[in-house]
Amino acid sequence: MKTPKRLQSLLDEGLIDLVVRQLMSGKEAMVYVVRCGGETRCAKVYKEANQRSFRQAVDYTENRKVKNTRQARAMAKGTRFGREAQEAAWQSAEVDALYRLAAAGVRVPKPFNFHEGVLLMELVTDANGDAAPRLNDVSFTAEEALAHHATLLAEVVRMLRAGVVHGDLSEFNILLGADGPVIIDLPQAVDAAGNNHAERMLLRDVANLNAFFGRFAPPLLASQHGPEIWDLYRRGVLTPETVLTGRFEPKRAAVDVVSVIREIDDARAEEAARRLRMA
Ligand SMILES: Nc1ncnc2c1ncn2[C@@H]1O[C@H](COP(=O)(O)OP(=O)(O)OP(=O)(O)O)[C@@H](O)[C@H]1O
Ligand SMILES: [Mg+2]
Repeated sequence: MKTPKRLQSLLDEGLIDLVVRQLMSGKEAMVYVVRCGGETRCAKVYKEANQRSFRQAVDYTENRKVKNTRQARAMAKGTRFGREAQEAAWQSAEVDALYRLAAAGVRVPKPFNFHEGVLLMELVTDANGDAAPRLNDVSFTAEEALAHHATLLAEVVRMLRAGVVHGDLSEFNILLGADGPVIIDLPQAVDAAGNNHAERMLLRDVANLNAFFGRFAPPLLASQHGPEIWDLYRRGVLTPETVLTGRFEPKRAAVDVVSVIREIDDARAEEAARRLRMA
């Protein structure tokens, strides 16, 4: 095919030899199949921020490390330099997460290069060598569903132990490769320890897995793997050997009745003051 503009500089630099075809056009990126030195790879071209549906909410960028204070100030002010810095941080977040997770033994596409807003990575393929389908495009027996579900929960645990929460894990962002499920699409991944939304995002990721595989293996629909995993992680006792049960009883901590009543009284006083001002 004719080389898309955004891939021309990679061709000029000799990073790729040929663009074979477009694989997908997602909400945030265009994905192409390319050839590099006799190998077939995948090129993910990030869309510019203004062409992208806005998934990059505050919660995703919170606590993301910024190189220097000038950059941090510019990002906070929303200047052009700031927007560019934010854009670069968003794009490199996926590359950072891929390297970090590959090192931790999580099955993600192997990253090769990141150049001018294009991520070059392994093309995940099926048994025929064709681009692998998303989980959403495949149907499973109950047994297969339980096996993949267990594999993916182990991956979630591995990611969490490496300090990463995916943040958008679902049947649309997991490919079924020849050797099993492969997790993709990580620009919104967050720091498990330093981000206030990490717990909520982990619970949602695991709930998505349970809901999807629960279509084929209904007992998964009622299981509580997310809260179970987070509780073990929070207490520092989550290990790769932990056997997950899907059962979780939240411990009821003793309630401090005095402080609850004080909160109620404060709210009441505030409301009374507001009415007085209005009158
Ligand atoms: N490494 C890969 N190997 C094979 N196919 C891939 C790879 N990376 C992405 N794809 C294909 O491209 C699609 C879009 O990729 P990705 O999810 O990373 O981008 P996106 O813009 O966030 O897309 P979406 O908005 O659909 O989530 C995937 O659903 C998958 O079919
Ligand atoms: Mg995606």
